[in-house]
Amino acid sequence: KRHLISAADLTRDDALLILDTAEELSRIADRPIKKLPTLRGRTVVNLFFEDSTRTRISFEAAAKRLSADVINFSAKGSSVSKGESLKDTALTLEAMGADGVVIRHNASGAPHRLAGWVRGSVVNAGDGTHEHPTQALLDAYTMRRRLGDLDGRRVTIVGDILHSRVARSNVLLLNTLGAEVTLVAPPTLFPVSVDTWPCEVAYDFDAVLPKSDVVMMLRVQQERMTAAYFPTVREYSRRYGLDARRLAALQDHAIVMHPGPMNRGVEIAAEVADSPRSTIVEQVANGVTVRMAVLYLLLGGSEPAIGGDVTPAG
Ligand code: CP
Repeated sequence: KRHLISAADLTRDDALLILDTAEELSRIADRPIKKLPTLRGRTVVNLFFEDSTRTRISFEAAAKRLSADVINFSAKGSSVSKGESLKDTALTLEAMGADGVVIRHNASGAPHRLAGWVRGSVVNAGDGTHEHPTQALLDAYTMRRRLGDLDGRRVTIVGDILHSRVARSNVLLLNTLGAEVTLVAPPTLFPVSVDTWPCEVAYDFDAVLPKSDVVMMLRVQQERMTAAYFPTVREYSRRYGLDARRLAALQDHAIVMHPGPMNRGVEIAAEVADSPRSTIVEQVANGVTVRMAVLYLLLGGSEPAIGGDVTPAG
């Protein structure tokens, strides 16, 4: 494959290859010489039109550990503020010789459009409320490391599903890997299309807790929300927040995840986020390894792949 736009693009074999490659790369990361020469001479552009801490830094670290040249582009302070379009920005970067473009954009579908305009591989680092496939891959990698094979594992994802690209990518990927996903949220924070997603939907968090192997908490995305969608913070925390009482209802082996950034005290209590059951810091570390695997598999051939599977967009 040439691009990674959606978790739906990945077959089970593709996903397992990425996770297994990340496992191999993590063994190298434990050695004194951490850098691989694999992408020497290749250029990776990190194209961020929306804020990011974890994803932007980990893609940069991943590309550098594979010896790629890295160009970091942030829309803030660029000619985007003068009205330059995504296409013209992309063609400018293309002219500088990008073999791979990692893009985060507030418009759902922007990575797909970009893939029609540039010759290099495009990796979706989060587009609007659509998808965040490398987050789902690092989450699956973290679950597999803690719990083993994901086949038949029960994963409960709780919170603002309506605005969550992480939820959609996780549902798609976890389904491909054989896990059973249940989404829990207030009725107003589910997308209309959720009935077509390969997962269960529930409203009672306490009822699903004891059956869960993984509980993944999502941030309430206040910046994408109007007041009409949301109960009060206090009411939301009471019904959908993960606190110490709910943590105690989990099975002994069950883990707590959060993609970050967190709203401590809203969807997750500070003592839960910092507990030994929490994998939140591990997820960040695993993000570098998994993104190394993605870049290695997309760009690591003897020749950059040209020609492709995405119809050029106008
Ligand atoms: N999980 C995640 O995408 O975090 P950032 O927005 O900080 O990249």
